[in-house]
Amino acid sequence: MSNLLVTGSNGQLGQCLREQLNRSAGITCYFATREDLDITNTVLIQKFFAENNFDYCVNAAAYTNVEKAESEEKLAFLINAEGARNISKACKENDVVLLHISTDYVFDGTKKTPYIETDNTRPINVYGASKLKGEQHIRALWNKHFIIRTSWLYSQYGHNFLNSMLRFAKEEKALTITTQQTGTPTSANDLASALITIIETRSSRYGLYHFSNQGAGTWYDFAKAIFEATAEIDTVRLAKTEHYATFAKRPAYSVMDCMKLKTNLGIGLTDWKVSLKKVINSK
Ligand SMILES: NC(=O)c1ccc[n+]([C@@H]2O[C@H](COP(=O)([O-])OP(=O)(O)OC[C@H]3O[C@@H](n4cnc5c(N)ncnc54)[C@H](OP(=O)(O)O)[C@@H]3O)[C@@H](O)[C@H]2O)c1
Repeated sequence: MSNLLVTGSNGQLGQCLREQLNRSAGITCYFATREDLDITNTVLIQKFFAENNFDYCVNAAAYTNVEKAESEEKLAFLINAEGARNISKACKENDVVLLHISTDYVFDGTKKTPYIETDNTRPINVYGASKLKGEQHIRALWNKHFIIRTSWLYSQYGHNFLNSMLRFAKEEKALTITTQQTGTPTSANDLASALITIIETRSSRYGLYHFSNQGAGTWYDFAKAIFEATAEIDTVRLAKTEHYATFAKRPAYSVMDCMKLKTNLGIGLTDWKVSLKKVINSK
């Protein structure tokens, strides 16, 4: 029996983990919301870890607003960099295996083929820089870690591209969606299931991994696939644009190669459109 702590458990990944772990025997879970455990509070973290005998910690807590991070740099770094350091320090002191989630936004997007784990990082926005700093803290502090970079996360829960598109369609808004970036939409349910596999198999093949669904598309392709799956493609007013002004720069290309995770950890990979249909059908 493993004892697992999930931080940031009210986020979309946290909720996907909660749903799946409720069905999983063999793992006892403590789902800590931001109110239960603020990962910037070192005193509370120490107390929390000392009072519970955790074997694993999934750090699903993060500052995830890419746009706002440009004007809230201090806060983004406090949560994504210092918070990750606080959690990894507690994991080290209590011999807890850490599963931490990072992002494709650590890359600058100039590559033309899928990024592998050893490719150079060069974030082009504050969010990416804060997440990279978090990775670096963990690597420097505690070797029993899995840092999993993922991309374009969506799910049935919370604020994400899928839920925004479905809401806009209901409001009958005309939608102009960018073709400026290419990446891989990834179901947070699939990420949750990959994390659970790592825990259930008690893997000790620690390190840095990429995990996303398979294939690639632009945000426009993502929107189109959503409306095809909901059979709204003929009614919704959807148009493409090459130019879409945002505060934060975004990598033009951030597709990731996930072969290391498949080979080392035996985790299956699913096409992004297949996973998208599954999430939409479950709603
Ligand atoms: N979303 C994406 O497209 C995407 C892409 C690549 C990687 N990722 C990474 O994937 C992971 C999961 O993302 P997600 O989409 O599930 O994020 P999310 O829905 O924004 O959830 C993050 C959770 O962390 C909580 N949180 C924020 N600050 C905290 C603090 N100081 N202490 C404890 N909890 C705190 C948030 O609470 P509040 O709701 O109260 O703020 C929220 O419940 C993150 O590490 C993220 O960087 C996400």
